[in-house]
Amino acid sequence: MSQARPVREQAARQGDADALVFFGASGDLARKQIFPALRAMVEAGELSVPVVGVAHSGWDTDDLRKRARESVLERGGPDDAHLDTLLGLLHYVDGDYTEATTFARLREELKRVGSTRPAHYLAIPPSLFDDVIRGLRDHGLHEDGRVIVEKPFGRDLASACELDDVVSTAFAENSVYRIDHYLGKDEIMNLLYMRFANTFLEPVWNRQYIDHVQITLAEDFGVEGRGAFYESAGALRDVIQNHVFQIVALLAMEPPAYQGYDAVQIAKEAVFRSMRPLTRDDVVRGQFRGYREEAGVAADSDVETFAAVRLHIDSWRWAGVPWLLRTGKMLANTSGEVIVYFKRPPQQLFDDAHEDDRPNYLRFRLSPVSRIALAARVKSPGEEFRGLQRELMMNTESPLERAPYERLLAGAMAGDRALFTSRGSVEAAWRVVDRVLVDHHPAVAYEPGTWGPPEADRLAAAVGGWHHPVPEPALDADASAKENS
Ligand code: BG6
Repeated sequence: MSQARPVREQAARQGDADALVFFGASGDLARKQIFPALRAMVEAGELSVPVVGVAHSGWDTDDLRKRARESVLERGGPDDAHLDTLLGLLHYVDGDYTEATTFARLREELKRVGSTRPAHYLAIPPSLFDDVIRGLRDHGLHEDGRVIVEKPFGRDLASACELDDVVSTAFAENSVYRIDHYLGKDEIMNLLYMRFANTFLEPVWNRQYIDHVQITLAEDFGVEGRGAFYESAGALRDVIQNHVFQIVALLAMEPPAYQGYDAVQIAKEAVFRSMRPLTRDDVVRGQFRGYREEAGVAADSDVETFAAVRLHIDSWRWAGVPWLLRTGKMLANTSGEVIVYFKRPPQQLFDDAHEDDRPNYLRFRLSPVSRIALAARVKSPGEEFRGLQRELMMNTESPLERAPYERLLAGAMAGDRALFTSRGSVEAAWRVVDRVLVDHHPAVAYEPGTWGPPEADRLAAAVGGWHHPVPEPALDADASAKENS
């Protein structure tokens, strides 16, 4: 979390990995996220060790280099000396993850490049984890190594526990880095920072002053060719159980008791544990019209592409405060937003007619722009005690922002666990959704370009309805850079 870490945490740190091995080197994630992140890490001086890609594609190192170059250029990265340096660091091992010879070749390659403390990054579907972990263990590649695991961590509580059990046969918990890329985003890190680097929020950050919280992560596009994957996931598994719950945990956690990553983990885990398990009436599932025509999707699919959830956190701080969470594909716009609504004043002293009758709120706009706004009522000039709700806005955008994968991979390579999730948190989060994954109302069809099925309104009826994020223009990049400097 900061440059100055307490001794205790430094002792718990593993130090730098001396090679990055990544499984799934020919895959989609590698192409879209990993190679551009690796180039940026080279530029930032965070990557100078060998990078060994592993896949079962019949490739050689030249093919891997070609893919890496294409990937960086496709993502708008420069064709420069840093890219050349990255290409020079790349090595490739081809093979089936179920065959011992693949891992024997990997061992040889690591020996050849002089690595004894590799970081193994599993950028592969969870169904293959078992084979890879076994292969690493049987060939002694886990010793002094660490493992970086991609979401999804299982598809329900039982499979997550199994996965964790498999991983724990080879790696101690403090050598496991579970990636939820939301934790590597500036806007999400800012939730933690904003809450605990200031004093003014804490006195009102509780059930006495907060009425309810709304979180929306909306996308105006569909499953983009990932129909087959999505059929095994759905919005609850894909986004609510991880990205949205992580946001809830950062907003709801108690102040970390000391400086250091494990204090944050402990406080977050307590939130997951105090979330009340969802029941079928707490969830509205929707499916956009047209989803069933996507490649890889069943003609009678009931998988939800939209989920709205009413969550309760049974803790001293949050008892009785509803958390309304939504995510979906093919919605009215692409936006991420958190709105924390305060209670109304106890007495209405002014006979105001409000165009915006909402109570005061704190709004975190997470995407596509990034800003924080505090809404308060002010008297309209000239009018007698009549007012308007106005937002005090802080812009938090910066052209210097780092991509989440760059930040997360650099953290894992350096042995810094601040931005990763713990086994306890992941399993506790699954416990919250486990029942509704199987016991739920059918998905209701909704029209693309809307805010999901009207049935979702039922969940928010008691708090005055959902507030849909509206598009906000990005601020001028130069102005924003100055403001942030
Ligand atoms: C991924 C989900 O984890 O997060 C995708 O699998 C979703 O379905 C994506 O689109 C959203 O991430 P971001 O960073 O684009 O908001």
